[in-house]
Amino acid sequence: GHQVETGLGSAHGKAILLGEHSVVYGAPAIVLPLLDLQATASIRRARRGFITSDLYTGPLAAAPKHMDPVLTALRVSAEQLDVRGDRVELTLRSTIPFERGLGSSAATSAAVVRAVANLAGVRLDAAQAHALVQEAEHVAHGTSSGLDAHAVQSMTPLRFQQGKPTTVKVADKFTFVIADTGTSGSTAAAVDGVAMLRDIQPRVVDRVVEDLANLTDDVVYALGLGDPIRVGQSMHEAHSLLAYLGVSSPALDAVVAAALEAGAYGAKLTGSGLGGCVLAVVPDQEQAGDVAAAMTAVGATRTWTTTLVPNDFDL
Ligand code: PMV
Repeated sequence: GHQVETGLGSAHGKAILLGEHSVVYGAPAIVLPLLDLQATASIRRARRGFITSDLYTGPLAAAPKHMDPVLTALRVSAEQLDVRGDRVELTLRSTIPFERGLGSSAATSAAVVRAVANLAGVRLDAAQAHALVQEAEHVAHGTSSGLDAHAVQSMTPLRFQQGKPTTVKVADKFTFVIADTGTSGSTAAAVDGVAMLRDIQPRVVDRVVEDLANLTDDVVYALGLGDPIRVGQSMHEAHSLLAYLGVSSPALDAVVAAALEAGAYGAKLTGSGLGGCVLAVVPDQEQAGDVAAAMTAVGATRTWTTTLVPNDFDL
């Protein structure tokens, strides 16, 4: 390989289209790539370790706890690729909001892994890159279903079950709007809440998990048909089931209702819930503006529009 002065890497955000929480109990989930939300890393050899980012700027050795995923990504990839990881200047940029379920942590880790590989002149294949990002995610977040590490490096939607990703066929253009409620829910609290409910009412929760699994596969099918109305219906039902599991919030419910009122085919919370973001599927780009405005009017702090392009010709 060819060593360079400055190693560059990037990865994108992700949103769970369907299957959050049920994926923890073995059901499938679908993740969408958010190609317009990007994390980038640049890295050069230096006498002292230093990091520049929106969340922390200072010596590597003094970085606070919330930088753990990044530092772990740097350490494991530097070890593997024979770079002195403690003697680099690392600069991070990201347009993915932090702690909103949009993959900010995994995307930043993936950008760092790729930047280190680029600096070392090594071409990582997808499996090697994924293993390094997943290790960083695991160290930083403990238990994690591992879907983020795949999603932030995939250009197509993925169906994900028991650790295994498969590409989802998309037969037509789909337009989605994402809205941030402006608050971050704790993933651990949301996952624990569902586990506690399952202790009390195992049959009810298992039935909900099964219903979410069926809705997820119905969405896989509808993407393959190019049917956004059907995608929206399943999303709508999924939001009710997630609310039943106790992971929605008044703010999430209000943003979902506003999206439907403004013409979305369907909307639901995305990610662990109790805060974070709403994902809506809309008829087209023009309607996306109306839906985003309606979501903002009931309190959403930011919105993004993203389109999914057909990929059935390369499958
Ligand atoms: O909020 P996010 O995007 O990190 O998603 C959490 C998804 C859960 O299913 C709730 C937990 C998991 O590890 O899969």
